[in-house]
This record gives sequence, C-alpha cells and structure tokens, in this order.
Amino acid sequence: MTVPPLIVAPSILAADFARLAEEVRAVENAADWLHVDVMDNHFVPNLTIGLPVVQSLRAATELPFDVHLMIEDPQRWAPGYADAGAYNVTFHAEACDDPVALAKDLRAAGAKAGLAIDRDTPIEPYLDLLPNFDTLLVMTIKAGFGGQRFIPQLLDKVRAVRRHRDAGHLELRIEVDGGIAADTIEQAAAAGADAFVAGTAVYGADDPAEAVRRLRQLAERAADGQ
Ligand code: DX5
Ligand code: ZN
Repeated sequence: MTVPPLIVAPSILAADFARLAEEVRAVENAADWLHVDVMDNHFVPNLTIGLPVVQSLRAATELPFDVHLMIEDPQRWAPGYADAGAYNVTFHAEACDDPVALAKDLRAAGAKAGLAIDRDTPIEPYLDLLPNFDTLLVMTIKAGFGGQRFIPQLLDKVRAVRRHRDAGHLELRIEVDGGIAADTIEQAAAAGADAFVAGTAVYGADDPAEAVRRLRQLAERAADGQ
C-alpha cells in the first residue's frame, strides 16, 4: 500500500450522531482516515463515544480509523481500540506515565501508535520518544471540544517536530487537530504537518466530501510551496 503524502481526517465529533454510518459514508471517497474523538469526562470535561460505537462503526465503512483518546488511564483502554480494528490509536502524553510501553502494546496489537500533545504541554520532553511512535498529534486548540478557534502559536511545536523528524530520518506522521479549516490549513501544512483533522470544516459544510477535497488541495499547495 502506498503511503499518501497528506492525510485528511474528518472528525465525526461534528457529525450527526443519530446518523453516524451515513455521515461516515458521506466522506468515504474523499477522506484518508476517519478521526474518532473518544472523551471520558475526566481527562477532558466533555463526554463522547467509546468502544461499542467504534466496534459498530468498524463494520460500516472501509475507512481507516484514527482514534484520538482524550481519556485517563489509556494503558487500560487503548489496546481495546487496536483490537477493534483501529488503524491508528493516539493517546495523550499528559495522561500516561509510560508512553513508550503503551506504544509497544498498541503496535503489538496491530495498530499504529500515536502520541498527542495538548495545548499547554511542551514538545521537547517527548522528542526522544518519537521513534516509538507512528503519529504525533499536535493539538492546535485545548483538547475537549470541537468548533474552537485555531491557535497559530501552537504551530511552533509542529515546526520543532518537523525539524527533528527531518534531521533524524524518523518515519512519523505529524498531525494537527483543532480549528483546521480553509483559512488555517495552509499555515499548518507550511509548518510541516502532514495529517489534518477537521470536524466543523467538514461536517458543517453543505457537501462534506467536497470540503475534504478542498482542504486537501489547499494543504497540498502549501506543502509544495515549501
Ligand atoms: C477536540 C477534538 C477535535 C475536534 C476538532 O478536542 O480532538 O478532533 O473534533 O473539531 P474542529 O475541527 O471543529 O476544531
Ligand atoms: Zn481529535
């Protein structure tokens, strides 16, 4: 399987939860991954969906699942999402004492391993751990809710990771999440991100598939300009 240069991952957090399978199929031919935000009302104040929904959805689409766990105690819960067939399982650095051990468990369970860095967490302490991960998710908002305003200063972390990746020949997806839309995706791509989560910008659009294609086009153009 060839690796797409840029990933666009619609977040179902902004979809109509009563029509989830339909909403997923609406982006099936345009998206690369489906971003699934799991929130537990402890790590973040919000509460969304969990394993049973992911298991049911897994049977409803061919799209790879990019599961973003905003939960406490990911050591306990994350491998279950890998077992459920998630392509990539990302947990938060702030919630985990031993990120490398959990990354190994996720890979052993057949998933890619992702590390997420929230708004107020510096990236430097985690740079040396990155060879153990397939994905680094840099939050471009404070994790917890969709529809927030993108914080451009957080792209400094993307630039730092991109430099580190390029210098160390790491194989790592650099993903951005929060406030990604037509007016922000180019700066994120120019900073070095190569995976883009978009909730409101996709599911708030009249034509979600078209919104995904447009975002991809903007990101590609900005990445080519580098
Ligand atoms: C927020 C979630 C995001 C959210 C993004 O904590 O991690 O994935 O769905 O939503 P938008 O694109 O609306 O900012
Ligand atoms: Zn997310």
